[in-house]
Amino acid sequence: MSQAAESPVSLRGRDLLSAADLSMPEVELVFSRATALKEEFQATRRHVEQVLAGRSLAMLFQKPSLRTRVTFEAGMTQLGGHAVHLATSDVGVGTRESVADVARNLDRWVDGIMVRTFAHAIAEEIAATAHIPVINALTDLEHPCQALADVFTLRERFGAVDGLVLAFVGDGNNVYHSLALLGARMGLEVRLAHPPGFGPDAALVARARALAPDPERIVIDQDPRAVVRGADVVYTDAWTSMGQEAEAERRRTVFAPYRVDEALLSVAGPTTLVMHCLPAHRGDEITSDVLDGPRSLVLEQAENRLHVQKGFLAESLGGR
Ligand code: CP
Ligand code: NVA
Repeated sequence: MSQAAESPVSLRGRDLLSAADLSMPEVELVFSRATALKEEFQATRRHVEQVLAGRSLAMLFQKPSLRTRVTFEAGMTQLGGHAVHLATSDVGVGTRESVADVARNLDRWVDGIMVRTFAHAIAEEIAATAHIPVINALTDLEHPCQALADVFTLRERFGAVDGLVLAFVGDGNNVYHSLALLGARMGLEVRLAHPPGFGPDAALVARARALAPDPERIVIDQDPRAVVRGADVVYTDAWTSMGQEAEAERRRTVFAPYRVDEALLSVAGPTTLVMHCLPAHRGDEITSDVLDGPRSLVLEQAENRLHVQKGFLAESLGGR
């Protein structure tokens, strides 16, 4: 008869466009749902409660993907729902049909929209037009699903994230932006070492500092050795993000001193761990020995994309 009181925190119908969108209790709700789903999935590879039975998710991809596509698609299936993959060549968002018209149509058919695109404003326009939950699965500005999975991974590994130091080495890009917004609010010190001219978006950093309990825990520098010293985890990502391919050769030269290798890790410390959102460019931003080595958390991060996104999908699309 004793039934746990329903949580006052609810994500029903909610969008996830930015790593700043979820309050701390809402992040906790996603993480606790993800933990329960992960335990059940690891035990049986099945979920008894098909909380997304009959629900559909449209997935708009204007950039390539492995992890995001498979984790959202498999995640919907595992929870009893269905995902529809829509490539640029299928839909022509903004070319064959306007962004708003695509959103208006999807709104009549499915229960949620996942979007991977270039300009963040496209994801915002879809969310402003559709009445159903819209999930940002990477824009040029942010990658909130990645940041949630990464912080979840750190919490699994360390027990708590408050006070941890994460040193991001490389481009002040979408992945860094979302880590700064989410991590600093959760008490991490989020450091960045970037080459001159490749720093983060100033407005986003100002927002991350304004939201953080301690704005000084967002540290931005250009010296990778100084930034990694004493860090609990060193994080890196591609030097050339999707959409920047024309700059790849110049970036390869500029970013060369920012490679995460054994020499840099020896400056960081003997217990420092390594993260990468993947896909990795072996020999560029990270060496194979580090990526495949004992300090690497990259496959835990990739696995947790599945569990954390399922946690969000169950809370936002489920139960209505
Ligand atoms: N980390 C990540 O989002 O990977 P994909 O680009 O393969 O989806
Ligand atoms: N910063 C990278 C992340 C890929 C998951 C990109 O945008 O291409």
